[in-house]
Amino acid sequence: MVPQWIIEKKRDGAALAEGEIRAFIEGYTRGTIPDYQMAALAMAVFFRGMTRAELAVLTDAMMRSGTALETSRIPGVKADKHSTGGVGDKVSLILAPLAASCGVVVPMISGRGLGITGGTLDKLESIRGYRTDLAPDEFMAVLAECGCSIVGQTAALAPADRKLYALRDVTGTVPSIPLIAASIMCKKLAEGIDALVLDVKWGRGAFMKTPEQARELARTMVEIGAGAGKAMSALITDMNQPLGRTAGNALEVAETLEALSGRGAPDLMRVTLALTAQMLVLTGRVPDTSAARPILQAQLGSGAARRRFLEMVARHGGDAEALASGAGLPRARLRREIRAPRAGTVSAVDAGRVGRACLALGAGRTRVEDAVDHAAGISGIVKIGERVDEGQPLAALHANDEGRLDEALRIIDGAFAIGEGEARPPELIVETVRPGNG
Ligand code: URA
Repeated sequence: MVPQWIIEKKRDGAALAEGEIRAFIEGYTRGTIPDYQMAALAMAVFFRGMTRAELAVLTDAMMRSGTALETSRIPGVKADKHSTGGVGDKVSLILAPLAASCGVVVPMISGRGLGITGGTLDKLESIRGYRTDLAPDEFMAVLAECGCSIVGQTAALAPADRKLYALRDVTGTVPSIPLIAASIMCKKLAEGIDALVLDVKWGRGAFMKTPEQARELARTMVEIGAGAGKAMSALITDMNQPLGRTAGNALEVAETLEALSGRGAPDLMRVTLALTAQMLVLTGRVPDTSAARPILQAQLGSGAARRRFLEMVARHGGDAEALASGAGLPRARLRREIRAPRAGTVSAVDAGRVGRACLALGAGRTRVEDAVDHAAGISGIVKIGERVDEGQPLAALHANDEGRLDEALRIIDGAFAIGEGEARPPELIVETVRPGNG
């Protein structure tokens, strides 16, 4: 195999053969193909795209670059959910224990936040003692006993993706739908799951800025998963305003506990229940989503899902007792409210600005190696369509540093729009994508 011939072939718009893709990814993982050739191929894919057949091979080759999880050792049907990321998206923390309490095994490998989108691992690490770096045997044990476990990616899982993602990050090749789809799906397929539901977000606080882009990414990933024999579906959801009422790690864990106690914000619960219902359908536990609703409500109402969350936290070394009693989470030293300049109806809450303000407060990272301040973030966020009086709080900012707080206040200025009359919240769940209906 001559790498430059493969690069030239893709550059000129031809489809690559299976052997060419596999040899390229194997060579790149082993280090016999250098970064500059991989970067050139990524750029060629960026401009020329890939056929479904090429993408299936690329995803499979990236998955096989490492060791897949041997979840088949654990009895029961396995399913996961993946979100393309947003502001205030704490759905995984609620969905994993909720689905587990319904008998679905959820081996969830999650990521850290980068840029304005938060990461599930950062949220969980705000819980005193919670370990996201379980060894494979520990992960299997938690999964077998608790039905769900949320951990970070190990070095052995899809190493080709880890290397390629870092390279794409510095070569302008991140926003390519085929490369994003292969990157996400190779890690999910390595979990050894039977079913996967995707939450593909669009809007000001999301990667995909239009519903059309989100739809294309959703279809691409659904086809890859279905081609690999997995039960698949994707919801396209709104991320123009933050999800729920908090953004920032410890604040989102506190909101999760509220949600698991039946007091979740309506938009957060709608998205969470819709995605969990999809998991129950895809795993054959219920015939359709309407049959899933009462089951999920009962698991929330009885406290079963909350107990499952606390059990998972305890098995990961987290202080579940403190958490259950309202402690166990860090609190920021400084708190500042922003208030409505006049009475009216909230007509916009810019998720992009809220996310950037969170970043300024220290809740997120701009580079992978940055540390996060788990206590920082924003709470009490008003929602589109809500009435406010003059002087009423629109949100509260939490920080441990005056300079950061001032910077965040500058950024969030203008995030909230207040109008006269009614304001309709955006359509939260735009569409469901299934294999064959794209
Ligand atoms: N998340 C991933 O895992 N990969 C991408 O390429 C983009 C987002």
